[in-house]
Amino acid sequence: MTDRASQHIAIDPGRERQRWDQSGPFWDRWADAMADPADRINRPLLERLDLQPGHRLLDLAAGAGEPALTAASLVGPDGLVLATDLAPAMLTGARRRAGSTAPLVFGAADMTRLPFADASMDRVSCRLGLMFVPDDRQAVEEMRRVLRPGGRAVVAVWGPRADNTLFAELGRVVARHLGPDADQALEVLFRHADPGRTADLFRQAGFSDVSETAVLTDAATRLDRPFWRPALEMVFGPLLQGLPMVIRQQIDTDIVRAFARLAGSDGKIYLRMHARLAAAITPTSV
Ligand SMILES: C[S@@+](CC[C@H](N)C(=O)[O-])C[C@H]1O[C@@H](n2cnc3c(N)ncnc32)[C@H](O)[C@@H]1O
Repeated sequence: MTDRASQHIAIDPGRERQRWDQSGPFWDRWADAMADPADRINRPLLERLDLQPGHRLLDLAAGAGEPALTAASLVGPDGLVLATDLAPAMLTGARRRAGSTAPLVFGAADMTRLPFADASMDRVSCRLGLMFVPDDRQAVEEMRRVLRPGGRAVVAVWGPRADNTLFAELGRVVARHLGPDADQALEVLFRHADPGRTADLFRQAGFSDVSETAVLTDAATRLDRPFWRPALEMVFGPLLQGLPMVIRQQIDTDIVRAFARLAGSDGKIYLRMHARLAAAITPTSV
C-alpha cells in the first residue's frame, strides 16, 4: 500500500476504541522501555510548544503520559496540564507514574468532541495520536476552537512505514502469521506519513504560521537484545494475547530472523525512525 493510499484507509471507530481499551496494560508495561526513542520525538515537540510558566496545556491522546508529564514541570505551579485520552485504560499507567505531580490532571476525552470551552487553552499537544482518529479534520478544528487567539498546537505523527525500521519489520512478520487484521492495525500508524498532509489539515482549519518538519534518527541496537518486544506488544498486544504459545514463539523466532538480515557482522543494527512534527498558531484577529 502506498503512503498516499494509506491516507484513505478505512478506520472502524468501534474497533479502534476496543483496541486502545485493551492496549492499556501493554503500554503501562513497556512505556519506560520505550522512553528513549519516544524522547527523540518529545524533545523537539516540547521545544516547538514553547511552554511558559502559567500556561494551560491540553495534551490529546496522552496514553502512557508523555509529553504531559514533562510539560507539567515546564508550566509550573501557576499552570495546568490536562492529559486526556479516548481510552481511560490507556491513562492508568500515566496516572500512577505522575503520582501527585501538580499541576497535572487526567480525564477521558474524544479529541473530535472536546469537553472544554472555546479559547480556554494556551497550548495543545498530540503525540502520535491523530492518525487513529477517523475524522482527523474535526480533531484539528477542535484544537483550533479550544485554543485562545495566538495559541499554539503541535502534533507528532509517524513518517513513512519504510523509514520506520522497527514497525516495517514487525509488521511484515506479524501479518505473515495473522493476516490482514495485523496489517490494518499497523497501516493506520502511517496515515499522515505524506509530507505536508498534517500541515494541510492545520491550514484548512484556519491556523496560521503552519510548519511541518521531519524528525529522523538512526539508533544503534544489538541483535542479541529483544529490543523489538516493547513495540511488538504495544502495537499488536491485543491481537497476540489469545494466540497459542507455539505460534507466539514462532513469531518471536521469525522476528529475530528478520532483524538478523539487517545486522552487521558485529551484531549491530541501525533502526531508522521517522516522525513528523506539525506546528501552528491560531490567528490573533479574524
Ligand atoms: C500511539 S498512542 C500515543 C500515546 C502517547 N501520546 C504517546 O506518544 O506515547 C495513541 C493514543 O491515541 C488515543 N486515541 C485514539 N483515538 C482517539 C480519539 N479519538 N481521541 C483521543 N484519543 C484517542 C489512544 O487511546 C491512544 O492512547
